[in-house]
This record gives sequence, C-alpha cells and structure tokens, in this order.
Amino acid sequence: MSQKVSSFSSSSASAKLLAIRWNRPHLSILNQLLLPHVSEYIDIRSSTAGHHAIASMQTRGAPAIAIVAALSLAAEVSQKRFSTAIEARDFITERLDYLATSRPTAVNLFDAVTKLKRLVVEEARVAETGDQVVAIYVDAAEVMLAKDVQDNRAIGSNGAEYIERMAGELGVGRIKVLTHCNTGALATAGHGTALGIIRSLYQKSGSILEHVYFGETRPYNQGARLTAYELQCEEIPATLVCDSSVSFLLKRDPSIVAIIVGADRVARNGDTANKIGTYQLAIAAKYHGRLFIVAAPSISVDMGIGSGEDIVIEERGQEEITMASGFVGDKVAQGVLERETLCVAPLGTRAWNPSFDVTPAELVSAIVTEKDVFVKAPGKNVFDLAGLK
Ligand code: MRU
Repeated sequence: MSQKVSSFSSSSASAKLLAIRWNRPHLSILNQLLLPHVSEYIDIRSSTAGHHAIASMQTRGAPAIAIVAALSLAAEVSQKRFSTAIEARDFITERLDYLATSRPTAVNLFDAVTKLKRLVVEEARVAETGDQVVAIYVDAAEVMLAKDVQDNRAIGSNGAEYIERMAGELGVGRIKVLTHCNTGALATAGHGTALGIIRSLYQKSGSILEHVYFGETRPYNQGARLTAYELQCEEIPATLVCDSSVSFLLKRDPSIVAIIVGADRVARNGDTANKIGTYQLAIAAKYHGRLFIVAAPSISVDMGIGSGEDIVIEERGQEEITMASGFVGDKVAQGVLERETLCVAPLGTRAWNPSFDVTPAELVSAIVTEKDVFVKAPGKNVFDLAGLK
C-alpha cells in the first residue's frame, strides 16, 4: 500500500516532535514506525491498544513507554462507569499488571505501574465511588506526563552546564559530541534526555556546541530514522555514522569531547542498561580519553538492583537483523511511501538480537539526572546514587 509522504518545515519542529498528545480523555501517539517519512497520529483508546503500541514499537523510549501505558489506561477508564470504588481499583490494577508485560527492560514502566497501583489501592480504601478512583488515577497519569518534560528540561540544563565546565577544564573552545539511539522528544514526553542535553547546549546563546555525530543504531535504526529527524527539525548541525565507525571517528577527531547516551535502567551502582551498542561506545570513549555521559531521570535509577547483572535484557526477533525494512528510495523522492522488506543474510541464518546492553559503571564518567550530576568518588569504580531517592 502506498501513502503520500509529508514534507516538514523546521518552523513547526516542536509540533512535529510531539510523541504523545493528551487532551483529556483523548490520547494519540505519533506512529514512530512511519517516521521519518510520515507523521501520523494513532488514537489510543484502551490499555489493550496502549500495550500493542508499546510492544510493536509504535511508541518507544523508556519515558515515553511509561507515559503511554499510564495514559492509555486513563483514556479507557475515563469512558467507563464503575459501580464501586473497589471495582474501579480491581480493573485498574489488573490492567496495569497487563501493561507491565509490554516490554521488559526499561524501569520507567514498572516504576509508573507500581506508583499508580499503590495510589489506586490507597484511594479505594477512602473513596466513595468508582468515579473518584478514576479521577485520582487520571490526575496522577497527567502529573507523570508533565513531570517528564520538566525533568528533561532540568537534565538538559544540568548536562549542558556540566559539559561546559568540563570543556573549560580541558581548555577546549568549540566542541563536538556523539550520541546513540533516540533519546529526544520522540522518546519522552518532550525535550528528551541525552538529546535533551544536546538541545539545551545548542540553544544556549554563544553555544560551544559545534556539531553532533549520531550512530545509526542497528538493527532498528532509531538513530538513522528518529535522531536524524529530530536534529533536522531543530536545524542542529549533525552527521550520521555507522555504529561500527565510532572508534575510528574518535581517533580522527579529538574535538569530540563526549559521548552522551540515555538509559533504560540504571542499577544502584551506576551500571547502565541502554540500547545495544552503548557498551562498545563506552569502551571506545575510555580508550580515547573522552567523557561518557549517561542522561536519565531519577526514576530510571532502580535502587532495588545492585548491579547490571540483574537487569532483564529484551531479546527481539532474528529478522530485525537478517532482513532490512524501509521505504522504496526513488518512490520516497516522488512523495510516495511504499514499504519494502529486503533479505540481507542467506535464508536460515541464525541471528542474536539483544535490544539492550549493560555498560559497567566503571566506564561511565557522569550520570546526569534532573536533580544533580553524579560522578564517582576518587578511586571508586561505582557510583553512590543514594542521594537520588
Ligand atoms: O528500543 P527503544 O527504542 O525503546 O530503546 C530506546 C533506548 O534505548 C533509549 O536510549 C532509552 O530508552 C533512553 S530514552 C530517553
């Protein structure tokens, strides 16, 4: 099936980069499977639709997943009538447990589910009607949406200040940075985490940020499809590179002072699960003496997990590696969208496709949160993140 390609203009960058639209009680999400060629919003009216949107990657990115889960249920319960507060509580808790099965690695989803379940259980003890429980639930989901944008802006300014200070200490004037995956407005409720730092740094008057490199992020191409789109929309000078070219790039270009990535889950000691390929970037940064910065809201820190060994890593289908999926190039140029899947490897090739990896804290220079920038104490290989919770 063919679709007409939308053109974009940079003047509407922030509108184009809104991954989640909530207008009580209506939720719609930008279908990220069609980006960068088509901006199409899908209505999400139930937790079943929310679960599908997360599992099928129509929406993705740790913070966005949690918020879409919470709001999909908010949309559903806003349209339902419950006879009692207990009935509302039981429905909401059952649906939250179901939403928690959509993807396994990002802690934000589990954190949101735990907090919302606790809230409705407590509320059902005192509320007189189902409507009251629903109202409390929807308010709480809306607070999560607003807080994510607020946290990301704080991460952006904390990270930008940290990088400016480090560049000053290194005696470098104009700098370049490298990022991985997509951690921007599309992965969150707005602004972004790692890409949020880049955005904040670039928007500062007299910015020291000259250029951004970003990896394609095989096999799902969040970098090539989504980060490329965000950087173009914002007119930030940037260059796409193959994931495998980063070590060579760092060797060639000493003005790349930092690699900045997001996180799906940070363990108590600072070990960080993020998109596959992050670990090898951290090794390359260490070897070449560059900063390796993790940007994440404090809810991404899972104090219940001592080290990265305990983080569940999602494994996805082999076909994401053995096949390549995209839109026919000359048709896109003509403004028509036609999806095509190509067979890259010989039929029957086995492939291993972990969606995330774990970077040991030892390789991380700093963890930037909305509250503070954390660095390791001198001589230590792990972080002390106790102050966060
Ligand atoms: O599989 P995805 O696209 O959901 O993975 C996203 C990432 O790994 C991001 O780097 C991470 O969620 C941080 S997003 C602010």
